[in-house]
Amino acid sequence: MALATPSPSSADIGVTGMGVMGRNLARNLARHGHTVAIHNRTPAKTEAVMAGHAHEGAFVPAETMDDFVASLSSPRVAIIMVAAGAATDAVIDELAARMDEGDIIVDCGNSLFSDTRRREAALRERGLHFVGCGVSGGEEGALWGPSIMPGGSVDAYRRLGPMFESIAAQVDGEPCCTHVGADGAGHFVKMVHNGIEYADMQVIGEAYDLLRRALGLTPAEIADIFADWNTGDLDSYLMEVSVEVLRQVDAPTGRPLVDVIVDAAGQKGTGSWTVQTALDLGVPVTGIGEATFARGLSSSAPQREAARGFEGGAEPWAIDDREAFVEDVRRALYASKLVAYSQGFNEIQAAAEAYGWDIDLGELARIWRGGCIIRAQFLGEITRAYTAAPELPLLIADDYFHDKVLAALPSWRRVVSLSALHGVPVPVFSSSLSYYDAVRADRLPAALIQGQRDYFGAHTYRRTDRDGSFHTLWATPERAEVEA
Ligand code: ATR
Repeated sequence: MALATPSPSSADIGVTGMGVMGRNLARNLARHGHTVAIHNRTPAKTEAVMAGHAHEGAFVPAETMDDFVASLSSPRVAIIMVAAGAATDAVIDELAARMDEGDIIVDCGNSLFSDTRRREAALRERGLHFVGCGVSGGEEGALWGPSIMPGGSVDAYRRLGPMFESIAAQVDGEPCCTHVGADGAGHFVKMVHNGIEYADMQVIGEAYDLLRRALGLTPAEIADIFADWNTGDLDSYLMEVSVEVLRQVDAPTGRPLVDVIVDAAGQKGTGSWTVQTALDLGVPVTGIGEATFARGLSSSAPQREAARGFEGGAEPWAIDDREAFVEDVRRALYASKLVAYSQGFNEIQAAAEAYGWDIDLGELARIWRGGCIIRAQFLGEITRAYTAAPELPLLIADDYFHDKVLAALPSWRRVVSLSALHGVPVPVFSSSLSYYDAVRADRLPAALIQGQRDYFGAHTYRRTDRDGSFHTLWATPERAEVEA
């Protein structure tokens, strides 16, 4: 069945790319009273949306790109929801060729922020607005209320914002959508959101592993502990999800599902992007990095095969006070999670400086409170912290979080040292504690590293007692110091 030619300029907004995410975003927009033009390269998908969902709102189906663009009211707003990369570039070109000055193209896919910056600059030259927009919450979020992170110009947001705010998740009467900043800022923060998500999932995994190995608890018993934690300051969607997964029993075998799932974690790449970008910016995101590497390690089949069964030289667990241990693990999880979030926000701060984005970190934490995978109570406190001190250099410098970390510290140290003694890998727990100890240190061994660099590469060093750059003439018998 061919789709009829739609009436021109009748749609408020359009979505091209009727994969699951595109279709759900379009349905969400239609449900909220917006007239939505829909299009897909293969028209059968557009027809399928009409067949299944036409009754949900006002859709304007278009068979061709010409019809799709013509059906949009001016200034036109067209959302692209296709695979990131070449497909996105191809669709942008098709749209741009048919659009007029002032029209807006929105990329809601998971594009790399540097691609978004490039596309925005190219389209701006042609008088078009390009908005790279992070959308979090998966399929269900897209349908029922995602967290939406649009970048691009303020002008574009003026037209787009009200529609996006209407379909976003709502928390305490506020939409989980805000104009994040110019050009690629939206995709950048979405990328870091995903990186933080990796770390958050990993710390929950480390807590699970410890409770299981140290106390011999079953997955269902750990689910009960997590359910209890989920009523306090660890209350989060990911904790909720973990409870569900740990309680699940595999029907064919009767075993806990978690015991029949292959322990090799997948990834789609946004965690790696977060780490690669952090390396470029020189920001230590150790928690996200370790979480990303932990996924890589879990999938390193040849290495794991070769090392399986190696002697650990570890002591057997013998925990006397089980309740106290559970509380220690809870606190270690909290502190490690806090460090990982703090590092993620640092990466955003560094990018804002590098790319000239004016990002309100408090607002960002606010729009992550609903709709997205890292939604959690905890983010409310982060909003408070950054609202009180927008330039806060690290979250643990905020009094509330500082007190939390101080209270967690003995537990955190016990858990990390016991894990080492008993041979349990806790890469994010331990690297986060190392980060805390390093960042609070009076002196770091970086002084020795500077000396080494000067010795073999004449890279010079600065002195603690005088301004300037110095070099020691290492190859001469006197080893005199000269000012560089
Ligand atoms: P899902 O969201 O269902 O997992 P997906 O594979 O991520 O699906 O979605 C891919 C979307 O990108 C589809 O709408 C696809 O169009 P087709 O249905 O015609 O395959 C669209 N897409 C991929 N490459 C494209 C391209 N080069 N030009 C236009 N659309 C493209």
